[in-house]
Amino acid sequence: MPRTCLTTPIYYVNDKPHIGHAYTSLAADVLARWKRLSGHEVFFLTGTDEHGQKVEKAARDAGEEPQAFTDRVSQAFRDLTATMGFSNDAFIRTTEPRHRHACQELWRRLAARGEIYLGGYEGWYAVRDEAFYGPDELTERDGVRYAPSGAPVEWVTEPSYFFRLSAWQERLLEFYEANPGFIAPASRRNEVIAFVKAGLQDLSISRTSFRWGVPVPGDDAHVMYVWLDALTNYITALGWPEEGEAWRFWPADVHFVGKDILRFHAIYWPAFLMAAGLEPPRRVFAHGWWTNEGQKISKSLGNVIDPVELVERFGLDPVRYFLLREVPFGQDGDFSRAGLVNRTNGELADVLGNLANRTLTLIAKNLDGRLPAPAAPGRALGEALSGLPARVGAHLDAQEFHLALEAIFAAARAANVDITEQAPWALRKTDPARMAVVLRQLHDALRVLGTVLQPFMPGTMALMLDQLGVPAGARHLGALDAPLPEGHPIGTPAPLFRKVEA
Ligand code: MSP
Repeated sequence: MPRTCLTTPIYYVNDKPHIGHAYTSLAADVLARWKRLSGHEVFFLTGTDEHGQKVEKAARDAGEEPQAFTDRVSQAFRDLTATMGFSNDAFIRTTEPRHRHACQELWRRLAARGEIYLGGYEGWYAVRDEAFYGPDELTERDGVRYAPSGAPVEWVTEPSYFFRLSAWQERLLEFYEANPGFIAPASRRNEVIAFVKAGLQDLSISRTSFRWGVPVPGDDAHVMYVWLDALTNYITALGWPEEGEAWRFWPADVHFVGKDILRFHAIYWPAFLMAAGLEPPRRVFAHGWWTNEGQKISKSLGNVIDPVELVERFGLDPVRYFLLREVPFGQDGDFSRAGLVNRTNGELADVLGNLANRTLTLIAKNLDGRLPAPAAPGRALGEALSGLPARVGAHLDAQEFHLALEAIFAAARAANVDITEQAPWALRKTDPARMAVVLRQLHDALRVLGTVLQPFMPGTMALMLDQLGVPAGARHLGALDAPLPEGHPIGTPAPLFRKVEA
């Protein structure tokens, strides 16, 4: 069986989940579901990033012990997976003993291979980003220096272990060259390559200024730099270093990340892995950022979008659909409620919902709820449907979620044109045999649409396939080649999408 391993970033537990977290995981979820429908064995991983100064500080501010604090906030991310309908196969927390074990083992291997040395670190550090910045990256306002992210930085001096990242510059460039699909989209790849070509410095990978982290093996005064700790989650979750049953999923096929954390995944992570003698992941895809009604999303502006509230208001599947339909994956985009309302009403309810309801109601009323004999579709509809699953699959393999949905909805619109032009309701009296043919063609089209849309809108498409009468075992992509037999009963038609008010 072919295998696919997909990951989301592990989310910081310093705050409750927002739309950005839901978005990265949603993309991974849709691809995971698609791969399962295609017959792949899938390992889809998500989790929480629980160490570091930022979390230590958030716990202190909340008046809690770090472990109790992370237990509580991590649960909110687990709850989010349920709210959003994510189908992750595992959820990792970096405070688990197996993860500490993996981090320490990775460290030992890097040390044994001479990739780590003890030095001293001085630099501008942003606690909020858990990252150091060069002086030229900073801006100054009222005596405070800020990182490009807007986080304030402070001057930090401490002993630190270093990873010999500078020694990996050429090998990284060779790796990117040999693996053109490693960084996507292409514009991001160019950015990363330019950054690496400009020269890499050794990376500080330990801290003595706080305690909430994985202790460095053999030197308890240090805890590991949170990114080394965090990135290791991807292999911990697959059982490394024991390399048991789940290890066969490595290397990961796609690490889904936001553009802000691409550098860590596309430079540090493959360097750590290669330095430890492990294979790098196959691809890192960096998506863009959402603004809210044209404004940057930030806690201080008070415009953070709560995915739970959104789902309660609009329903899960319209939200899932909208997030991947509205903006090309990889680009920044603007979240607007008007946009969500328009797409829900204009595309889901008017195009797809209407098509399903009209077709199924006619079959229920006029054909006793039984399918007529299979019939090839007319030319326009046939073209829109032809090879649709393969086209959707190709788009999803390239993480072009919006293009996959565009192709699916082009076919849905073609079916809508078809039903309007052929007017099966009028054929009932004039040419009932023709009516049966048209309804069968539309039923077949709906079955294809419902099948390929499952990863995007799992709940609603399950209902649609129930109404179409598609048996549970015949909802995978391979089943589309076998038509349902003549006389097969459909389910009970009912509206699939409710229109929402602006
Ligand atoms: N803990 C690190 C990741 C470690 S992975 C080994 C981290 N966590 S995070 O919680 O801050 O962010 C997780 C994801 O949310 C990132 O992929 C980030 O891009 C995404 N988003 C945060 N705000 C966002 C938007 N406004 N829009 C879209 N995604 C955004 O980084």
